[in-house]
Amino acid sequence: MLRTALVAFFSAASLQAQDGGQLFSLYCAACHGADGKGATGGQFPPLAGSDWVHGNAARAVEIVLRGLHGEIHVDGRTFNLEMPPQGAVLADDQIAAILTHVRSSWGNKAEPVKSETVKAIRAAGNDRKVPWTAKELLAIHPLPASEPPIANLTSQIYHGTWKDLPDFSQLEATNVEEEHDGLISVTHADRTDEFGLVWQGDLVAPESGTFVFRLDADDAARVMIDGKTVTEVRGTGPMNGSRAKQGKINLTAGPHKIRIEFVEFFGQESIALAWKGPGLPSWRNLADHPIEAAKPSIPIQPSGERAVVYRNFIADTTPRAIGIGFPGGLNLAYSADHLAPELIWSGYFMDGSRHWVDRGQGNQPPAGENVVKLSGTPALPSEARFRGYKLDPSGNPTFMVQIGDQTLQDAWKPGITGGKPGLVRSVTAGNGKNPLEILISDRLPMKQTGDLEFDLGSEIQLHVEQALVESRDGKSFLKLAPGQTAVLTYRWK
Ligand code: HEC
Repeated sequence: MLRTALVAFFSAASLQAQDGGQLFSLYCAACHGADGKGATGGQFPPLAGSDWVHGNAARAVEIVLRGLHGEIHVDGRTFNLEMPPQGAVLADDQIAAILTHVRSSWGNKAEPVKSETVKAIRAAGNDRKVPWTAKELLAIHPLPASEPPIANLTSQIYHGTWKDLPDFSQLEATNVEEEHDGLISVTHADRTDEFGLVWQGDLVAPESGTFVFRLDADDAARVMIDGKTVTEVRGTGPMNGSRAKQGKINLTAGPHKIRIEFVEFFGQESIALAWKGPGLPSWRNLADHPIEAAKPSIPIQPSGERAVVYRNFIADTTPRAIGIGFPGGLNLAYSADHLAPELIWSGYFMDGSRHWVDRGQGNQPPAGENVVKLSGTPALPSEARFRGYKLDPSGNPTFMVQIGDQTLQDAWKPGITGGKPGLVRSVTAGNGKNPLEILISDRLPMKQTGDLEFDLGSEIQLHVEQALVESRDGKSFLKLAPGQTAVLTYRWK
C-alpha cells in the first residue's frame, strides 16, 4: 500500500517541472557530494569531470535506473563499490532533470537529457534485474572519445648538445610534425640523447580564472602561454618529481597559444605536464607521461592520527620556524620570530633527507603542493615575545605569545567545514586591558564573499567566526577584544 502511495505521490509531483539541482541534492549528493566531487573526501566517485556523464547520456541513465557494481575507473582513479538502482524511486522526467543538471554543473558540459530518452531506455532494459558492471556497460555505451588535450599541436625537433634551454628562435629545426592526439610526447623523437623539442598548439580554457601548470622533465623544459613563461625546470637531472615545478596564470575562457620547450642532454628522455583550474576539477595531463607528485626521499609524515613537528630550517620563512604536519595532508610553518603562521601547504609534509645527513645545511622547502605564503613580517607589536608551544594528545600545537601582562594562545588543528578539509585556528586573547590587532596576511588581498567567508588571495577561503577582520593598505588583520576567542578556518578553494 505504502509503495503504491509513494509512486502515486512521485508521479503527481513529476507533473510539475522538475528542478534537477534539488533532486540531485535529495537523491545523489549523499554519495557523490554537493560539489559533485564524491562525498566523504572522494571515497565515492566524482561526477564533476567524469567521462561517464559526458557524451551519450544512455550510460548514465542506465546507471541511475539499474545501479552499478564492481570495478570502475573514473578520472584516473579506481573504485570498487556498489551504487543501488534508483529506477523504482525516480520517474523518467526526474532522472532526465537530474542528469541534465549533472551534465551542466561543476565544469561538465554535455547536452540536456530528455524524459523520452529515459523512458525508452527504461522500457528496453526492463528485464534486467541486476546492477550493471562497468565492463558490461562500456561494451554497449563506450566512453566518449575525448577532445585532443592540445588542439593543432605540432612538434619541431632540433639537434644539438644543450645542458639547459637554448634560444630556439636562433636555431633551425630538422623536422616538423603534426601531433594529432594532442598530447606532447618524446617517444617518437628520432634520437635518444642530445636533442631539443618545441611543441606549439592551442589550449582551450573551459572557463576564465587562474590555472596551475605542473611540469617535470628529464632534462630542461619550459611552458609558455600566449608568449609568457608560466613555469620551467632548468638544467639537467632526472624526472622523478624532485625537480617538478608549478606555475600559475590567469586565462580568459577560450583558446590560448601554448608553447613547450624541452631539451634532452643525456640519460632518460621524458616530459610530463598537467594543468588544473576552473572547469577542470582535477589534473589533466597534456603529455603522454602522467605527472607524479614529488616524493620526498626521507618523508617526514604524521603517523596515524597524530601530527608531527619539524624543527629545522624551512625555506621561505624565518630561521625559527616550527613545521607541523597534520594527518590528512595539511601542513603549517609557524614563525617563532614573526609570531605568525607563514606557510601552509597540502600533500606531503617535509623531506628529511637534507637535515638527516648535514644538520642545518640550507633550507628545506615543503615537500607538498599548493604552498601558500600568508605573510613575512611580524604579526604582533614589537613587545610581543614567543613563549613556546604545547601539544595536545593528538600532537596539535598551541603557540604561546606574551604581550605585556597577557598571553595570546594560537591553537591549530585539522578540521572540516563546508565539506572541505581545512586548518582550524583558534586565537584567544588574554585578559589584558587593550584589544589586540593580529596580522593575518601582509600580501594576500582579502575579500568578503559571504556572511563569514573571505577569499584570501586566489587560493584560500577563510572562514572567520567570533571576531572582526579588517583590511587596509593591502594587509589584513584580526581584531580581538580581551579574553575573546576567534576561530579561523583556512581551506584551499
Ligand atoms: C548510495 C550511494 C549512491 C547514490 C545515492 C548515488 N550513487 Fe552514483 N555511484 C555510487 C557508487 C558507489 C558508484 C560506483 C560504483 C562502482 O564502484 O561500481 C556510483 C557511480 C555512478 C556513476 C558512474 C561513475 C561516475 O562517477 O561518473 C554515475 C554517472 C552516477 N553514479 C550517477 C548517480 C546519480 C545521477 C545519482 C542520483 C540519482 C547517484 N549516482 C546516486 C553511489 C551512489
